[in-house]
Amino acid sequence: MRLLIKNARALVGTHPAELRRITGRSMAGLPMLEDAWLTADDGRITGFGPMAEWPGIDDWNDLTVVDAEGRYVLPGWCDPHTHTVFAAPRDGEFVDRIRGLSYQEIAARGGGILNSARMLRDMNEDDLFEQAKARLEVMMAQGTVAAEIKSGYGLSLDSELKMLRVVKRLKEALPLQLKATLLAAHALPPEFKDDRAGYLDLIVNELLPRVAEEGLADFVDVFCETNYFTVAELERVLEAGAAHGLPGKVHVNQFTSIGGIQAAVAHGALSVDHLEVMEPADLDALAGSETIPTLLPSCSFFLGIPYGPARELMERDLPLALATDHNPGSTPSGNMNFLLSLACIRLRMLPEEAVNAMTLNAAAAMRLEEELGSIAVGKRASLIVTGRVPSLAYLPYAFGQDHLDTVIIDGRPVRAGAALA
Ligand code: NIG
Ligand code: FE
Repeated sequence: MRLLIKNARALVGTHPAELRRITGRSMAGLPMLEDAWLTADDGRITGFGPMAEWPGIDDWNDLTVVDAEGRYVLPGWCDPHTHTVFAAPRDGEFVDRIRGLSYQEIAARGGGILNSARMLRDMNEDDLFEQAKARLEVMMAQGTVAAEIKSGYGLSLDSELKMLRVVKRLKEALPLQLKATLLAAHALPPEFKDDRAGYLDLIVNELLPRVAEEGLADFVDVFCETNYFTVAELERVLEAGAAHGLPGKVHVNQFTSIGGIQAAVAHGALSVDHLEVMEPADLDALAGSETIPTLLPSCSFFLGIPYGPARELMERDLPLALATDHNPGSTPSGNMNFLLSLACIRLRMLPEEAVNAMTLNAAAAMRLEEELGSIAVGKRASLIVTGRVPSLAYLPYAFGQDHLDTVIIDGRPVRAGAALA
């Protein structure tokens, strides 16, 4: 299957193919090629250039043509932190929060993650799969071409495996790129209330080896937070993950700063995510490391908690990434376009910085930077074609509106708009 995009107002994010991530002080640089064409074959970008130098096409058979006149073409969104497999929404807790309870108070009353775990335990694998598939189809139509999905609503051997098998089936059933993360250490299950070490033993000695053997996960995660898991427990899981070849992508500093970042950096974690509450020592620990700080501003928006310090992270020249955190408790939205607006409005990121954080750096935060995240020959032709908008800044500016026209994954339209001839 071949693809031709012609007359694009601009191809956005034409970084050099070998660029793996963009560090903070360079993030305002988003290369664009105006009035351009692009071709793809077999799902991969084969060439692009200015229309004035378009070589033309000899064989028009079996060719999908996109006339992108007046439209921007961007690398598809990459979402490196989600919990998209879950059993049911938690809109009741949402109303409880409006009435005044906090996220932590709801969790202390048996709601929150444990509520999701109870519901998931009782749901069969096929229903879980169908629900998650429908959510991912919505996300693809909103421009998402890759996502990481965590377990963590299982909290038992069987249910964690059930979640990860669902992710494996999703990888096979859907065209977008998916990565799976084992997040068994998301909350302490009630059966282990008086035996924390017993639950950690289960994760490290039984679950991780099974998951690694069956190839069910790409990464490991721990919710390192007051009242959830300690820094020592985080270290134990990261070490066990590393022994099975699974790098860490971890939840740290959402509500309190307890040293999770330092431990994650010391253990070579791929990313540290959330970072709403940051002390100077946390920023110092990240500076100069390979670990990618990932902010989740939709979670801050929904819970009314502080936003992460995007500008400070960029001033430290770190390769900031953004993700939705899509989950039923703290972020019931997988919409990266809304995230773009929040990044500009609440994190004070320039549109160019935000786009880099949601494409190349986000791809790097799930080890997909050689496949996705920029427009480069050889990469996957997974692209967004916008509507006829006046500027790139208009996308985040006119928030809450749908500015996308066509979404292409591996050279095939998954959402067909007016630009498709
Ligand atoms: O990333 N903070 C921990 N985990 C999720 C929320 C989980 C839930 O409330 O279901 C998060 O925000
Ligand atoms: Fe999360």
